[in-house]
Formats: sequence, C-alpha cells, structure tokens
Amino acid sequence: MSRLATISKLNSSSPIIAPSMLKCDFSNLSREIELLEAANAQVLHFDVMDGHFVPNLSYGPMVIEKLRSCTDLIFDAHLMISDPDQYLDEYLKAGCDCITVHYEANVEPEKILTKIREADVVAGLAINPDTPVNQIEKFMSFCDLVLVMSVNPGFGGQKFMPVALNKLKELNKLTDDNVILSVDGGIGTETIAQTSKAGADFFVAGSSIFDTDCYTDAIKNLEALATIS
Ligand code: DX5
Ligand code: ZN
Repeated sequence: MSRLATISKLNSSSPIIAPSMLKCDFSNLSREIELLEAANAQVLHFDVMDGHFVPNLSYGPMVIEKLRSCTDLIFDAHLMISDPDQYLDEYLKAGCDCITVHYEANVEPEKILTKIREADVVAGLAINPDTPVNQIEKFMSFCDLVLVMSVNPGFGGQKFMPVALNKLKELNKLTDDNVILSVDGGIGTETIAQTSKAGADFFVAGSSIFDTDCYTDAIKNLEALATIS
C-alpha cells in the first residue's frame, strides 16, 4: 500500500489498536496472525530490538519479511535500534508500511524521515519517557506519525507512565489532524481512555491482548474505551 493510502486507512479506522507482536506466541506466528485477522485487527506492531539501544533482543527484517506473505494487514515497525539509518533498507525491503525510529537513536530526523517517505512508507518518530516534546518540535513537518513511549522501551508488560499524557496533549496541539499520534507501553483497559482523551489515536497493546483468552474481545474492549463519545 502507498504511504498516503496507509495514512488515510489509519485515519479513517481510528481508533487503531495495534497488537504488539513482542507478546505473541512465537512458536506459532502464522496462527497468531490468523487470530488477529479474525479479531479484526488492522495493524501489526513489530518491536525490533538490537540489545544495544535497548537491553533486549527481539527479531529483525527476516522475520517481518516472511510474515509479509501471510497477511495484508498494515505492518508497523518500531525500530528500537542504534543507527537505524544503517539498516533502514532491510526494513523497507521487508515490506513494512510504517517505520518508526527513535529520536534518541543517534539519528538525523529530517534525513531518515525523508528517506522513509521517499520509499513511499509512513515515517514515524518515537520519543522515550525522558525526552521532552520540545526536542522534536522542529521535525514535525517530516513526521507522518509520532510515537510517545509510555514505558522505557525494551520490554512488554511494564506499567504505564503518566508522563506520556501531557506529551500527547502537547503533540496534539502541535500537529495537524493527518499526523497519527501513537502511544506505546502499558496500554490496557485501565489506561487507554486517558491516552485517547489526551489526543492519541493509535494504541499499541501487547499484554492487554496477548495475555487474554480472546483477542476479539480484548481488541473490541480497547476500541470501545478509546472511542471518545
Ligand atoms: C516496549 C514495546 C512495546 C511493548 C508493548 O519496548 O515498544 O510495544 O511490547 O507491550 P505492553 O502493551 O505489554 O506494554
Ligand atoms: Zn513498540
């Protein structure tokens, strides 16, 4: 799908619940995808970790590329890696629809976000809980998506950090309506509504989907709680 088609699909399906594949059953990935499709998920969020930018290791482009042939769902890659510029081409080739890099990962945001856009892929910039919004303000025009981390990246199952809420509010004021505001970490039935009220429209959820018996119910519940009436 083209970058603009992905953006328009994400905006028209808001609120988006994006299952974080860090928490899925790795022994049966294709079955997990079938279950998520049946649960009406629109997006799969891939947490890529290099054991350097974050103290944990997950999977890389080979796994994403193999899964690309299993489904047409939107692939959202969250690169928690040092020097993402060096590896970017591999994630583009793997068939990611959205690629998000971390501001803290020694990047030149204008340069890498432009490269992602030139490849017709949705360009995202992520910030850690300790990074204030004013540090990325000048890069907003290069972003299709901004991801606010509500935990320190590296592991699923951590507790939501409320510092994300004011950052979402600030970003909501700074960005135009087409920019997707994403929140990641500790999102579940207790926390999703407040992030939605703060301006998020894209919610990454790991434990609150994969630690339940029914992905359909889990996603439906989260969607309902994220829908502002
Ligand atoms: C954390 C990852 C998240 C995480 C989400 O570094 O970016 O996507 O796996 O998992 P939960 O929802 O369990 O916090
Ligand atoms: Zn993530």
